[in-house]
Amino acid sequence: MAKNSKLLFHLSDIHFGLEDNRALDWVIQEISERQPDAMAITGDLTMRARHREFAAATQWIRALDLPVTVEVGNHDMPYFNPVERFFDPYKRFRGMSELVEREIDLPGIAIVPLKTATRAQWRLNWSKGWVTDRALQQCLDAIDALPAGTQALVAAHHPLREVGTKGTALTKNGGRALNELAKRPVLAVLSGHVHDAFDIIEQTENGPVRMIGAGTLSQRTRSTPPSFNELHWDGAVLTVRVRNLQDVATRDMMIDDVPEDASPPREAGEPVAPVRQVPRTDPPTH
Ligand SMILES: [Fe+2]
Ligand SMILES: [Fe+2]
Repeated sequence: MAKNSKLLFHLSDIHFGLEDNRALDWVIQEISERQPDAMAITGDLTMRARHREFAAATQWIRALDLPVTVEVGNHDMPYFNPVERFFDPYKRFRGMSELVEREIDLPGIAIVPLKTATRAQWRLNWSKGWVTDRALQQCLDAIDALPAGTQALVAAHHPLREVGTKGTALTKNGGRALNELAKRPVLAVLSGHVHDAFDIIEQTENGPVRMIGAGTLSQRTRSTPPSFNELHWDGAVLTVRVRNLQDVATRDMMIDDVPEDASPPREAGEPVAPVRQVPRTDPPTH
């Protein structure tokens, strides 16, 4: 392997409470066999931020023996307790607080968090993403502070798309964030939230940005079996492999556009992965 070669695992949307335990046991085995340099978990650790779901998530993550960064998803905000949601939205992460939205610095490559889940929004649907000015500035400052020659992987929960395939809002200010990221040494933006994997080049006014989405390791599948992404960086090229227990090839596991949310495709025109493992009934969302 080349000197700068790195292996990273990108997991997302484990949704403890409705997790896929067989897939999670396999991930543990893959970590011990493949020995990745670091891991990013891009949000939605739980179903509804219940205490028992966070307890299971904390126990699973704490048992991992590698550098981990955890991004916060819309499902991880206290849902049944609006006061806590507003005043102390990260309280339930206390068992892993030092891993939350943490930067991981490896030689030549860094994982830099970008917060997209917010505690309150002036719209009804809180599941949508929002890149606030403050969150974007923090991320850009972190990238600008990296040693010269270091490439960044930005880790977020929501894909940085203003609109999804149905044309409604997906991530507010996502386009602005992509415009800024395009000016910097960003290898890719890693995200979750839509429960299918993708690897898309997004054009911005400042040039292209690569967006890499990981699928889910829960039973809430969309059009692919549970999976995670294996990212290999050889110092020049970043390659994505979508790992899954059924050994479906990466190209058959990926959707070619970003959907609105994680609900299984039911209408013509919604992105479907070539493997077409669409559940017959919609999985529970709570
Ligand atoms: Fe999710
Ligand atoms: Fe989500």
